[in-house]
Amino acid sequence: MSYKTRTWSAQVAQSVEQWTENPRVRGSIPRLGTTSKTEVAHLRDLIFCMGKTVERCPRYNPLMTKAKVKLGILISGRGSNMKAIVEACESGEVPATVERVISNRQGAPGIDWARDRGIECRVLPHRDFESREAHDRAVVGDLKAAGVQWVCLAGYMRLLSPWFVEAFPQRILNIHPSLLPAFPGLNAQTLAWDYGVGWTGCTVHLVDAELDHGPIVGQQAVPVEPYASVDELQGAILKQEHLLYVRALRRLLSQEWRLDGRRIVYCQPS
Ligand code: GRF
Repeated sequence: MSYKTRTWSAQVAQSVEQWTENPRVRGSIPRLGTTSKTEVAHLRDLIFCMGKTVERCPRYNPLMTKAKVKLGILISGRGSNMKAIVEACESGEVPATVERVISNRQGAPGIDWARDRGIECRVLPHRDFESREAHDRAVVGDLKAAGVQWVCLAGYMRLLSPWFVEAFPQRILNIHPSLLPAFPGLNAQTLAWDYGVGWTGCTVHLVDAELDHGPIVGQQAVPVEPYASVDELQGAILKQEHLLYVRALRRLLSQEWRLDGRRIVYCQPS
């Protein structure tokens, strides 16, 4: 290989390295100065991918080539966390597809948004069922029929029965607007505000049969002081919820992990 080509490929390798922080993409870049013909072809591909950012190129981002996980999302209302998840799946940031959105409330605004997006939706009002478990059986039946593997609760205002939790063991996530274990349950932002804490935030956790209780996947702290009212604080937390939910889901779906008691232990660095 000519000196010129070698210099050129070393320069390209260097700029690709600067371009991406993704350790797996970086690991696929030939070491500088060791370029062969195949490696030059590989670098040409990388340059092509740089046009759409290397992380979004299926050839160099293993998250995009891996089989995608099938998600179901349960909502009860507005569904802004659901939107964040759907958009992250569509952009390839989360290696999953949303197969179902289910609401337990008629007229939940999130359902219209999801339908317009072409996602199959169901409304299964819990009042139409004789017990919590009967409702859960209908919801789980529908999720399983759609091939759903992971379930995201996104403002789903129902406690799941143990039966539901066992149907998707360690495969159900929830987001809660406080730094758990502080302020579980309803009105977490108001409780934090009234208590006078300096910091609150949001938590993504695996779901067990207790309210807002399962192993913590991720948390984001939010300071209280900059906000003039509980509504403003709520808005600031919600913004962070959208980012945190996507981050947590991406990490759980793309890395090997296991539970050590309540602690989630990742087998590879993030
Ligand atoms: C969020 O604050 C979430 O943390 C809580 O319910 C709210 C739902 O909001 N569980 P949205 O429906 O996702 O907009």
